[in-house]
Amino acid sequence: MNTAVTKNALVSETIAKKFETEKATPYTRWIAEEGLDIIPSLYVENLHTVELKPWARRGGKGLYLNHDASRTSNDCYVCEIAPGSELAPQRQLFEEMIYVLDGRGSTTVTNGAGAKVSFEWKAGAIFAIPLNTVHQHFNGSGSEPARFVAVTNGPPIINAFGDTDFVFNTPYDFKNRFAGESNYFANGGEQKGLLLDTNFVADAVNLPLISAKERGAGGGHIRFSMAKGSMNSHISQFPTATYKKAHAHGPGAHVIIMSGSGFSLMGPDTDNLNRYDWREGTMIVPPNMWFHQHFNTGTTPARYLAFKAEGVSIRNAQGVPKAWISRRVGGDQIDYADESLQVRETFTAALAQVGLTPRMAEAYEMELADLPAKVSQKG
Ligand SMILES: [Fe+2]
Repeated sequence: MNTAVTKNALVSETIAKKFETEKATPYTRWIAEEGLDIIPSLYVENLHTVELKPWARRGGKGLYLNHDASRTSNDCYVCEIAPGSELAPQRQLFEEMIYVLDGRGSTTVTNGAGAKVSFEWKAGAIFAIPLNTVHQHFNGSGSEPARFVAVTNGPPIINAFGDTDFVFNTPYDFKNRFAGESNYFANGGEQKGLLLDTNFVADAVNLPLISAKERGAGGGHIRFSMAKGSMNSHISQFPTATYKKAHAHGPGAHVIIMSGSGFSLMGPDTDNLNRYDWREGTMIVPPNMWFHQHFNTGTTPARYLAFKAEGVSIRNAQGVPKAWISRRVGGDQIDYADESLQVRETFTAALAQVGLTPRMAEAYEMELADLPAKVSQKG
C-alpha cells in the first residue's frame, strides 16, 4: 500500500506526441468553447466547495469532471445557480441524472407538444431529465446559491455527431420517455425487487433501502431507473466499523458520499493501493478496472450514491456484473477470505484512532457459506 512505485500509466513524451492529435474530441472542444475547465474526477474532496467558473451560455457557474474514459462513456459536471436566479432553458439529445448538493429550487420540463410539468427540490434530491425535453432550473432562494452535480452520457453523443447545434437544437419528442404526464416527477415510484422505478426522489439521503449482503458487511441497497433512461444509479449504505468487498469494474461509476465518513483504498492492482479519505460531499470515480474498497470509520452508517453508465458493468454470460462475482471463479470481486492482511490492519488502525474496533466477524462468517472453492493454480 502506498508503495514507492506509482502505476499511473504515463509514458515518454515521444510516445505521447504520436497520439497528440487524437487527444482532443468534439466533446472536449465543446467544453472549451463553453469557457469551462475539466478537472480529473478520480477524487474530489468536496463537491460543495470545488471551484466553478462563470458559464455564460447557461447563466450560472460550472465545472466539468472527467474520468479516464469520459470521451467514450459518461461525464460529470457541477453547476451553481445564483440566489434569485435561473439557468437558461436547454434541450439535449443525451441523458442526465442530477443530485442536489445545496439549496432549493424548482425545475420545469416541457416537451415539443407544449406539455409542461414543474417540481420543487432541495439538497438531497435526485432526479433525471427526460431525453430531449426542454428543461429549466430555478433557484428558489433569494439569498443562498443552489448547487447540483450531474452525470450525463453527453460525451459519446457529442462525439458521434460532432455537431452541437444538432445535439442541443433538434426538436423531437421521445414519447415513450415523457408524454407530458402531470405526475411524472411525483416523489415515490414502484419498487420492483432492488429496483425503484422513479423519476424523482425528494430525499435520497434518508430513503429507506433494501437489505443486500452480496457485497458483504450487512448493507442496504437500492437501484434506480430514472426517466426511462439507459444510464443507471444506485445507493448503498453500510454500518459503522464495517467495510465492503474490494472489486473492479469498467470506468464511469461516480460515487458521491451522502452521509458518514471513512476512506477508500483504490489502485490498479491489489499491491498498489492508495487511501482516499471521504465524508459527505466527497466524490470518487474509480478508473477502469482499478480495485477499490470502501471502509466506514465513522460512528454512523455511511451512504453513497453511484451514478453510472452501462459500460461500468462488465457482465458474465448470465448477465451478472463481474464486479459481483468472486475472483475465485473468474469474477472481479475479492472475497474477504482472500484479501491481504494489510487491508485489515489499515482498517483496524484507522478505527483505533477514533476509539472503535472492527465489526466484521459476522460478515466474514456469512461469506464462508457461499465461498467458492479455491481453484488450483497448477497446470
Ligand atoms: Fe465499484
